[in-house]
Amino acid sequence: MLSIKNLYKSYQDVKETRLILKDLSVDVGQGTSISIQGESGSGKSTFLHLLATLDKPDSGDIVLHCATQTLSLVQFSESQADEYRKRHLGIIFQKYNLIDCITVNENLLLPALLSQTLDQTYLDKLLNTLGMQRHKNKLPNQLSGGEQQRIAIARALAHKPRLVLADEPTGNLDSKNSALVSQLLVDTCKQLNTTLILVTHSQKVANLTQSQYVLLDGKLQMTSSTL
Ligand SMILES: Nc1ncnc2c1ncn2[C@@H]1O[C@H](COP(=O)(O)OP(=O)(O)OP(=O)(O)O)[C@@H](O)[C@H]1O
Ligand SMILES: [Mg+2]
Repeated sequence: MLSIKNLYKSYQDVKETRLILKDLSVDVGQGTSISIQGESGSGKSTFLHLLATLDKPDSGDIVLHCATQTLSLVQFSESQADEYRKRHLGIIFQKYNLIDCITVNENLLLPALLSQTLDQTYLDKLLNTLGMQRHKNKLPNQLSGGEQQRIAIARALAHKPRLVLADEPTGNLDSKNSALVSQLLVDTCKQLNTTLILVTHSQKVANLTQSQYVLLDGKLQMTSSTL
């Protein structure tokens, strides 16, 4: 379970302080998927940055309940944040951010090596699930955009994280590929019991997740849920 309580985040502009997240609270069950929509500038990426420990909130708490431990993300030191990102977190961006000079398989080996969870059988299964096994020895720039994003999904899942954050992961793809890749992302997370938080501008993509939220006035409002 990921438990977010009374989160506040502001940015200091030249003239004023702008409050972006205002008393945002939400609980996300382990292995469930949620989508977040909302206007440009509403704070969606800001929220993901806080969950990724790339930034700190002004106040509030973000707690990840694991089987054996409870982690309060906002109290992490730099080294604890590093460890959390390596072990528990997968991130997928709109731009795939794959390393172009090494093969697909080597791109997947990196996070697994960093978190000391290397399991080539699992990586092969993951590539198979995503329909990318036959591309594993290619370089990323020998693949189409949709294929590269499938590899980015595999990379985010390569170390079996508890939580995956996806910021408009299919924003660069045409609508057919966007639906296909998003479905693969949601299904693969479910199979692995990985929690998925998916930011998207597309209602069609949002519909694939179990609970849908909109970020409005600094808070998350649930618009639909099948849980
Ligand atoms: N590092 C920063 N310093 C100052 N202001 C920032 C910073 N990062 C974001 N902001 C501001 O905070 C607001 C929310 O930005 P954010 O990137 O979270 O929006 P978003 O919902 O992800 O938008 P989009 O849909 O366009 O990606 C914006 O007005 C942005 O200008
Ligand atoms: Mg954004």
